[in-house]
Amino acid sequence: MNNATKLRWGILGAARVNERLLPAIVESPNAQLLAIASRRPGAAAQTLAQYAPQQQGVSTYDSLDALLDDANIDAIYLPLANHEHAEWTLRAIERGKHVLCEKPMALKVADIEAIQAAALQHKVTVMEGFMYRFHPQHTRVLELIHSGVIGEIRSVRTCFSFMMRPARKYRLVESVENGGGAMWDIGCYAIHSARMFFEQAPISVTAVAKYVDSGADIASSGIIDFGDGKYAQFDFSFERARRCEYEIIGSKGGIKCHTVWQLPGDVPVITWWTEDGSQIEERLPATNHFQLEIEHFSDCVLNAKPPALSLEDAKANCRVIVAALQSAATGQRVVLD
Ligand SMILES: NC(=O)c1ccc[n+]([C@@H]2O[C@H](COP(=O)([O-])OP(=O)(O)OC[C@H]3O[C@@H](n4cnc5c(N)ncnc54)[C@H](OP(=O)(O)O)[C@@H]3O)[C@@H](O)[C@H]2O)c1
Repeated sequence: MNNATKLRWGILGAARVNERLLPAIVESPNAQLLAIASRRPGAAAQTLAQYAPQQQGVSTYDSLDALLDDANIDAIYLPLANHEHAEWTLRAIERGKHVLCEKPMALKVADIEAIQAAALQHKVTVMEGFMYRFHPQHTRVLELIHSGVIGEIRSVRTCFSFMMRPARKYRLVESVENGGGAMWDIGCYAIHSARMFFEQAPISVTAVAKYVDSGADIASSGIIDFGDGKYAQFDFSFERARRCEYEIIGSKGGIKCHTVWQLPGDVPVITWWTEDGSQIEERLPATNHFQLEIEHFSDCVLNAKPPALSLEDAKANCRVIVAALQSAATGQRVVLD
């Protein structure tokens, strides 16, 4: 990046999630917001006015291609609808842009393979935007695990849910095949966070789901089998009280992360216990994981470092999601190759 100290970002899409990501780009010391684009006339300017009203010098485009053609932009933050992620990530890579793509990066493993090949060819960095992983609470959980206090990991339980408000029901308009429903929206967190604690690849997935008329799933539960009696149970829903937690049970104790989606005002809390009588609660400082994600990605591009979340990880997550969807649709256990 020729000794640049700030990565120059463009945002592709006037999505609601910009409420979090746009200020994170503006406030990151190694990032600079250069532009935002939307296909809806005026929506980019409105998003900028809404989430960073004081910000000067940001261009707004009423065309996604116009932003990709802006030679001053180094990196794209891509919060388009789920079924558009792979296509627009590829288009951005072909224009030589680095891409932070919102989760899920793609609906098919083959699409991530194509992204991987294109990123290699165009020498750009691409990462799937699982912002939660940049929160120090997970570093602390991994530190506890590696210290051996809870012994060998035998089981993980992840739970992500909220009661969907009527205004958000647009997420149920598309079928699962077109990126709609709970799995692509929140189930991907349940599977991603469960996978974090097992070193081996899963061997099978069994899931059940409830669907709405459009073919979108609204609730699902399942088991990922990592072999040798090691299981991850996932549970997510748009029609249950708000939860965003995981629990890890080892041979000597357990650890729980209580609030994975850290919103402003949330306190990061980890509790852990051991069979020999320890019962400990740790409260960590509140931290903006969206900003840490932007700072991390910017640092990786500026200093030619590999991102913490690799495309291999994105493929592995997609593989489990697709297997879980297949299992829920067929009622069969799906074996992973
Ligand atoms: N990391 C996180 O915490 C987090 C949180 C929420 C969502 N997400 C992810 O971020 C992505 C975007 O989610 P979102 O809920 O923010 O999406 P959203 O508001 O529905 O926006 C998605 C895209 O749809 C278009 N759009 C937005 N409002 C529209 C409207 N009223 N009419 C027609 N088109 C409209 C926009 O493209 P144009 O501007 O080009 O029209 C926008 O980029 C998803 O992939 C989701 O999984 C991540």
